[in-house]
Amino acid sequence: MVIGSGGREHAMVWKLAQSQLVEKVWAAPGNGGTAGEEKAGNVGLEADPVTEEGQRALLEFAKEEKIDLAVVGPEAPLAAGIVDSFRAAGLAIAGPDKKAARLEASKVYSKSFMEKYGVRTAGSRSFTDPAKALAYAEEHFGKKLRRAEGKAPSPGEAPKAPPLVVKADGLAAGKGVVIAADFSEAKECISSFMKRKALGEAGKSVVLEEFLEGREVSVLAAVSAVPGKKAVIKPFIAARDHKSRFEGAQGPNTGGMGAVAPVPDFGPEAQKDFNAAILAPTLKGIIAEKMDYRGFIFFGLMVQDNRCFLLEYNVRLGDPETQAVLPLMDCDFADLCKAVVEGDLAEFNLKWKNEYACAPVAVAEGYPGSYRKGDPIAVNPAGIAGNGAKIFASGARRGEGGPLGSGMRTNGGRVLAVSALGATPEEARKKAYEALRFVSFEGMSYRKDIGLPADRTGSGNG
Ligand code: AMP
Ligand code: GLY
Repeated sequence: MVIGSGGREHAMVWKLAQSQLVEKVWAAPGNGGTAGEEKAGNVGLEADPVTEEGQRALLEFAKEEKIDLAVVGPEAPLAAGIVDSFRAAGLAIAGPDKKAARLEASKVYSKSFMEKYGVRTAGSRSFTDPAKALAYAEEHFGKKLRRAEGKAPSPGEAPKAPPLVVKADGLAAGKGVVIAADFSEAKECISSFMKRKALGEAGKSVVLEEFLEGREVSVLAAVSAVPGKKAVIKPFIAARDHKSRFEGAQGPNTGGMGAVAPVPDFGPEAQKDFNAAILAPTLKGIIAEKMDYRGFIFFGLMVQDNRCFLLEYNVRLGDPETQAVLPLMDCDFADLCKAVVEGDLAEFNLKWKNEYACAPVAVAEGYPGSYRKGDPIAVNPAGIAGNGAKIFASGARRGEGGPLGSGMRTNGGRVLAVSALGATPEEARKKAYEALRFVSFEGMSYRKDIGLPADRTGSGNG
């Protein structure tokens, strides 16, 4: 059973269904894409996995259907302790327990973990008092500004302190990080998070962090730390998300406009640095803190000249990175999940296809603001298959789709991703965009530059 309803969960369902070990995959609640997958079905339950009641309903369903293994997609149910509930009932589930999920659910906690175990990251300070946070921000811009003035800026250019990154402590569905260019922006953001509670409890504490330049890379990994077994983290091939809405890092941030894998500029030297400076100390910390962690971990990196800094942990697979990474996995995903849960990951041999993946995301008109919903999605399956591509639905539900109907209607801002493989990054990109021409719905749009290193971060994150 895969818990979640996005494109990441569709990719997980699709990959699990390919396993010889798997008879049936339930998606809870799933979406219009998981409903149509072979060997798969959607759990027809109104169960919010973030509430105790919803978790109980899922548990009942899992027991009735004799589900052998549950895998959790999104962070919110993990932070709400769904793994603890399933384990207490004797059911196998892939994911960190509630305590370990704090690596994502609390930025204050995760930064203190990084510092305690020497994981390389941006310098930062945590605050619970808005007055102290404001004073620190004022100091930052004042002091850095004076330093910048001393450096004699190029003619005509005003001296400028580097930005300050303001991060809300709790889960905020992508709205919790603001890169403040000056004191007035930082002040507005700190006041909005801490005083006006724009993000509710999530903004009660904040982390103020040094701004890092570089290119962003996402490393997804399997992690298995089970009492009495050898604890390991096995990284997947690297991926890159493109977060800004428009080409070339323009426009507002989104949940992700597309992903590629592997990342050509994340070579052996950067990987070696990642293993030593990020992965190894993280594993040491997981062991030392006696976390029971059997699931996936996501390292959000900033890479400068092959030196990696950890921006954040996510305690799950990334979306849309998973839609690019899983099609490249050349081993049994169900077997991997089993090894993770049973503590046998050390012996598991992860294998990858010697290819590249590109997965641009098609979004609904208006996204990431308010967007249209309910439009039929037309798909020409021959055109998709002709490019060896695969559609992963996210904001799409079942429903009639017109003459070339996919049987789906739009139901969210990010509607679907089209994932294609190629022998080179260029070929993967070409095929994915070719295949996208065989998908249409009213108001559909997408970024044309997924996989092109077009901007400062190389990731479109602005
Ligand atoms: P996070 O949720 O911590 O990954 O932050 C979300 C996004 O904000 C990241 O993907 C980056 O694009 C950006 N970001 C976060 N921290 C920093 C930083 N210290 N320097 C530069 N950009 C950052
Ligand atoms: N792609 C970033 C995330 O899953 O949060």
